[in-house]
Amino acid sequence: MKVMETSRRPLLAANWKMHKTAAEAEGFINRFRQNVADVKGMDVVICAPFTALHRLAALLGAGFLQLGAQNMHWDKDGPFTGEISAPMLKEAGVRYVLIGHSERRMHFAETVEMTARKLNAASHFGLQPVLCIGENEKQRQDGRTEAVLREQLLGALDGLAERDKGEAGLVIAYEPVWAIGTGTPARGEDAAIAASFIRSLLRQTLGEAAAKVRILYGGSVGPENITDFTGRPDIDGALVGGSSLKDEVFAELVKAVLSSGGRG
Ligand code: 13P
Repeated sequence: MKVMETSRRPLLAANWKMHKTAAEAEGFINRFRQNVADVKGMDVVICAPFTALHRLAALLGAGFLQLGAQNMHWDKDGPFTGEISAPMLKEAGVRYVLIGHSERRMHFAETVEMTARKLNAASHFGLQPVLCIGENEKQRQDGRTEAVLREQLLGALDGLAERDKGEAGLVIAYEPVWAIGTGTPARGEDAAIAASFIRSLLRQTLGEAAAKVRILYGGSVGPENITDFTGRPDIDGALVGGSSLKDEVFAELVKAVLSSGGRG
């Protein structure tokens, strides 16, 4: 392994979206573990549907795989039919939670203000938030990528209580919407520019703590391109959709990041 340039631990997260019953999730984990017995020096997280969380928590135990959820409400309880709160996720064994995924912004009208509340609640209840930000095709064509990243990132960080700003738990996923599920990833150098812009915004808000925040790239990541992203100085891992659904492909991704020492 190469010597790490930073103390940030590489993170590879699977976002299963609305895929896999609890039984299917269990099958995945059992097969995956036969392929990848142990992993040291990086975090591997499975963001599973709510209904699979309990079963997976029992299965994962104290192993190297960690559990994530894909969404949460900002209140701890209340009259919000169909919603799930941070304490409920904690109890189910969850450590990470995706916030503001573009599919939630697009299909469920999630606003920047809602992401701010969720970010605050996740930190307050001790979950590690993975805030997803990224521009869509039109915004990219209009040259508004940086403006969108600024609005989505600073808008969400606005919700973070002062006491939580220095915490190391925050993760940002840069996911250009046009690259999600399309088979057309961003170019490594463009993702790197976006990631270093995100880091500069973090510095303005969090000061020195910005160096501890992990930044992931997401959008059509696969075994053939992952190290082109994780090899960049400001990119600390990946958030993977389609290529995380098959255990053998996800295992390949883990091995690729491991054998490149986390960074290419
Ligand atoms: P794909 O890897 O399928 O493009 O999805 C990316 C994503 O949305 C992860 O959150």
